[in-house]
Amino acid sequence: MPIHTPSSKGELRQSKVSKKMFSNLARSPIYIVLDDLKSAFNVGSIFRLADALLVSKLYLCGRTLSPPNHKIKTTSRGTERWVPWEHRSSTIDTIKELKKAGVYILCAELSADSIDYKKITPSFPACLVLGREYDGISSEVLDLADCIVSLPIFGMTNSLNVATTASVLLYELHQVINKQ
Ligand SMILES: C[S@@+](CC[C@H](N)C(=O)[O-])C[C@H]1O[C@@H](n2cnc3c(N)ncnc32)[C@H](O)[C@@H]1O
Repeated sequence: MPIHTPSSKGELRQSKVSKKMFSNLARSPIYIVLDDLKSAFNVGSIFRLADALLVSKLYLCGRTLSPPNHKIKTTSRGTERWVPWEHRSSTIDTIKELKKAGVYILCAELSADSIDYKKITPSFPACLVLGREYDGISSEVLDLADCIVSLPIFGMTNSLNVATTASVLLYELHQVINKQ
């Protein structure tokens, strides 16, 4: 379903629905799983992104910090009020449950089996799994992926910030949905 993209800040403000109507908006067939994220600031940034793209649900798994948390609020800009979210103790059980419901699992990680983000062919609904700062996604979780997706790194660093990764990949998925 193509979504109209407002062309200016003014048009964007005009297009906002009331708080009451907001809960009736069709959400994007995208889920996000955060696997043990350490930084509250990253969690908040991903909340803000999930709101911008009307993601269906954000799962905060394992040790990932959850609202209410003042550091999350700093970067989320309060979007935890608008994004459906849930804390789950097990990332593996959450992914197994989503798979059983027919959700395509995309794990974001640089690995020998990774596919470049421009070459992925996901089906929807899809779930983007993002890993812990420093450690990345556990091998048990990677084993459940339908696809491991990566963003190319040309410089000296080994990885990108997890919220930056989420931004690029979620807008890419949004574009794939709009082209369908
Ligand atoms: C900072 S990285 C984890 C550390 C990384 N495994 C390393 O060895 O440097 C945190 C998370 O961001 C995502 N990520 C970072 N860079 C990525 C890339 N280039 N491609 C895909 N995912 C990436 C992954 O989900 C990863 O688990």
